[in-house]
Amino acid sequence: MNETIKSLLERRSIRSYKTQQIPDDALNAILEAGIYAATSRGREAWYLTAVQNADLLEKIREAARAELRKAGDEKSLAKANDPNFCPFYKAPTLIIVSGNDTPNTRIDCANVCQNICVAAHSLGLGSCYLAGYTQAFQDPDTAKKLKAELQIPEGFHPVFGVCIGYTDEKPAKPERDRSKVKIIK
Ligand SMILES: Cc1cc2nc3c(=O)[nH]c(=O)nc-3n(C[C@H](O)[C@H](O)[C@H](O)COP(=O)(O)O)c2cc1C
Repeated sequence: MNETIKSLLERRSIRSYKTQQIPDDALNAILEAGIYAATSRGREAWYLTAVQNADLLEKIREAARAELRKAGDEKSLAKANDPNFCPFYKAPTLIIVSGNDTPNTRIDCANVCQNICVAAHSLGLGSCYLAGYTQAFQDPDTAKKLKAELQIPEGFHPVFGVCIGYTDEKPAKPERDRSKVKIIK
């Protein structure tokens, strides 16, 4: 089978990672693949921040935990109190994909994430497409501080992201519903 299609079919969301950091050349190749995604009107309405700094990753994790505590429902509190809680599964690299206020920015950002996930897989790395971690940026004061530390430009806000690392699990290939696919000749 063609290698590109093989990567598309074999990529899975990975939720358990080894602690070892990914190589710089892999990160660079993955980011380059990300910014070559299709982009509405060629606007490139995204900003990518690859975070490998352990202190910053911990701050994002703690901010997400604080939001869960604020939510206050039983499920959120159980998550917040779980010492292993991490919205990016303790992966050593988190790529924050921020969007701005232009039309289709979320779609642009989504395309970047999908490219990143497939590129990571093609390099033998695990990844998980993420939206949930953005709760870390929900509180305006916390968001301001975090965005400053992360050097996210004015006007941009995290919308999706991808965590990347060496995979520590091998999820089975899930079924997909082919009744939702029709060919008309
Ligand atoms: C927009 C979007 C947001 C997602 N957010 C999360 C997330 O926050 N946490 C997570 O574990 N998975 C997240 N996922 C991954 C999906 O759960 C996953 O793609 C789906 O279950 C199918 O599994 P697969 O990726 O292994 O094919 C997200 C996927 C998409 C497209």
